[in-house]
Amino acid sequence: MSDSVEVARAAKLHGRIRVPGDKSGSHRALMISALASGTSTIEGLSPGHDVASTSVIMQQLGAARHDDGDLVIITGPEGGLTATTSVLDCGNSGTTMRLLAGLVSAVAGTHHLVGDASLSNRPMDRIAVPLGLMGASVTGTGTNVSAPLTIEGHKSLKGIDFHVPVASAQVKSAILFAGLNAHGPCVVHEDVRTRATTEKMFTRAGIAIASEDVGTGRVVTLLAGRPIATAWRIPGDPSQAAFFCVLGAIHPDAHIEIVDIDRAPERTGFVSVLQRMGANLTFETRGDTISMVARSSELNAIEIHAHEIPSVDEVPVLAVAAAAATGTTSFRDMGELRLKESDRFAGSMTLASSLGCRVWSEGDDFFVEGLGSAERFSEFRAEADLDHRMVMSSAVAGCAGAGCTVIGASTVSSSYPHFFRDLTSLQ
Ligand code: S3P
Repeated sequence: MSDSVEVARAAKLHGRIRVPGDKSGSHRALMISALASGTSTIEGLSPGHDVASTSVIMQQLGAARHDDGDLVIITGPEGGLTATTSVLDCGNSGTTMRLLAGLVSAVAGTHHLVGDASLSNRPMDRIAVPLGLMGASVTGTGTNVSAPLTIEGHKSLKGIDFHVPVASAQVKSAILFAGLNAHGPCVVHEDVRTRATTEKMFTRAGIAIASEDVGTGRVVTLLAGRPIATAWRIPGDPSQAAFFCVLGAIHPDAHIEIVDIDRAPERTGFVSVLQRMGANLTFETRGDTISMVARSSELNAIEIHAHEIPSVDEVPVLAVAAAAATGTTSFRDMGELRLKESDRFAGSMTLASSLGCRVWSEGDDFFVEGLGSAERFSEFRAEADLDHRMVMSSAVAGCAGAGCTVIGASTVSSSYPHFFRDLTSLQ
């Protein structure tokens, strides 16, 4: 696709779409299948470039992939994955790099992990520290241990009892992947319950893993083991559905159905946030799949805390919702946003400001004074800055408001290559 995309205001938005398979589930299905001995199948794998990076790397480490129509078939080598001297290119994908770091920590040999300009700026000390305690060595650049990374993996890691200092499913999962080959249990404590995709998928693959809620957090205990080959079905990605939920809520003539969504509580915090703002947003169950329906709504400002939406992936598009709301929305404790594919703290503020809102920040909080309606948005131009979620958040604002130009829009393919086709299909 072209790297600059013009988005015009849509007169109406009616219809039904299917967003890509959940990105988190897709990465893990590939990794767990590659670790298993035998043949696994994956239905609904995300078609995004991030997941493609994980797939290529699993093949570099010895897994085989065949596609049969939309079904992906992965065969893990009987003797386990092995190190390669080739570079493992994680592209734009933090999930690939952090989970892979855990996985290769338990594969004997030296591993070289690289990423694009965005990923090479992101902190990897958060995984280097626990993996080091387990007996691997993870080295990178600067105090943040940024990529390129060199990892010395060992077959004899030791289990740890570790408190993850930031709310991060990627850090938790890096430890759990390494723990599959550790001597002694691995215990991971988190203060905020982040997505439990790894825990659920390990359980399905026959791994002994237990999870206990403690206050607002959780303690996960894992015993080493080899996953068994599994038939995976990946439902739609709720973080991608979020773009259409906001779009439906802020556009004056919208009725958008998003079919087959993962409704895990750690992933759908944004739904409660939007409902609290007054969005007409509902879940509907059909057979064994869950859909979401977003209809035109009038939104009011609220206070939003990072712990309501662990991983804060949906904040940039919630900033667009805040721009259309009446009153000032407070986004509290949003420091982690600065460490994503781009600085989304600054990016969310810039986006709301370019729509015409007054915005300001205090420490890790930022505030958006809404315009009361997307019909009052200004036309604007956005720089994607190698960040797929900033592309889609900008497009939502342009489509509901007065149009926009997104520079660097092709980076949307990291997670949602057919995003603009789906957007057009509703008009
Ligand atoms: C992910 C975890 C989240 C999220 C990312 C996917 C995962 O990051 O932002 O898009 O699949 O584990 P954190 O590790 O910051 O929670």
